[in-house]
Amino acid sequence: MLAEEKEMIDIKTVRKDFPILSREVYGKPLVYFDNAASSQKPSKVIDAISHYYEYEHSNIHRGVHHLSAEATEKHEESRKTIQGFINAKYSHEIIFTKGTTDSINLVAYSFGNKFINGGDEVIVSSLEHHSNIVPWQMMCEARGAKLKVIPINDAGELLLDEYRNLLSIKTKIVAIGHVSNALGTINPVKEIIAEAKKKSIPVLLDGAQAIPHLAVDVQELDCDFYAFSAHKIFGPTGVGILYGKENLLNTIPPYQGGGDMIETVTFEQTTYNELPHKFEAGTPNMAGVIGLKAAIDYVNEVGINNIDIAEHQLLEYATEQISVIKGIRLIGTAKEKASVLSFLVNDIHPYDIGTILDRMGIAVRTGHHCAEPLMNRLSIPGTVRASFAFYNTKEEVDVFINALKKAISMLS
Ligand code: ALA
Repeated sequence: MLAEEKEMIDIKTVRKDFPILSREVYGKPLVYFDNAASSQKPSKVIDAISHYYEYEHSNIHRGVHHLSAEATEKHEESRKTIQGFINAKYSHEIIFTKGTTDSINLVAYSFGNKFINGGDEVIVSSLEHHSNIVPWQMMCEARGAKLKVIPINDAGELLLDEYRNLLSIKTKIVAIGHVSNALGTINPVKEIIAEAKKKSIPVLLDGAQAIPHLAVDVQELDCDFYAFSAHKIFGPTGVGILYGKENLLNTIPPYQGGGDMIETVTFEQTTYNELPHKFEAGTPNMAGVIGLKAAIDYVNEVGINNIDIAEHQLLEYATEQISVIKGIRLIGTAKEKASVLSFLVNDIHPYDIGTILDRMGIAVRTGHHCAEPLMNRLSIPGTVRASFAFYNTKEEVDVFINALKKAISMLS
């Protein structure tokens, strides 16, 4: 069944959909293995944004004129597309933000101000990206609360018994990455949420690294908040999503004040607009929102399950190929992984490997991957990280493996 489904992605056609994939770097065909940092954009997304600026642009929710009404309609259509994609109950549970970081800051600030007090606790994990640590740290500092951290084993998996022990009456929220950006670990989020629910504790999932790879159903997960960025799921930069359950979004205060988020304003008092506008102050990134719709439509055409399967096969192949290279140490060997291959080679600095691979046309990320506490836990300065998308090929993995062998022999 896996093989049949894999064939449903026509890799040659798919690669033609992404113009950048046919470019060269230093005279070599580009091998783009930095998809966890940001994925590439299909023509349909680029064209939707150009079309919007060429023919449709006007400010939304404001004008009486035709163009404004049309732009507003498109903007709201996009919200419905995203609602369907993650199976939210209502479209007003979809809030447009600048990206995952902005979404998490919104919740930390708003939820924190409403519900977190001195002596309370917020639970995150050792695997988190800085974006799912620092906003909570700032909030805890402001409110006199404490950050608690779920530890991991050496494979990069959360220790669930330790998590259960951390949950208490003091816990006000659990904020966890769905997939680790640095190691690729897919966290057992259903179990994590179910445990928190036993104590009526809300859960936020940082879905930045999950949304391009896995089918996400927020109602099935029963998470309270889900955050992700458009640019990781083949959409434009500068736009992201915060999904929140209606009752919670209605309960927490607005994050920013400005236009569109108000009902009435006087110098004495302001009342706020209904969802989702209450959280969308100012002129939004309308072109970005339209580009995101095009990206989700594209993913729906290819099929998120086909994407998941194709990427899993690439990860397995790359893991097999790299594991036999002498001196390789894989960082992150969880049983459940998305398409991230983090590694070190002997005592060679990751940056040196990344630089040589780059000269051979191969884009990877090196360093701590905005997860310094995780690197400290693993006692390493950073890793080389190759991250795959469904438009990558086994042939590209072969090019990468050969280039890596060359880099190692040059640096040893
Ligand atoms: N969070 C992005 C990464 O993992 C930028 O590279």
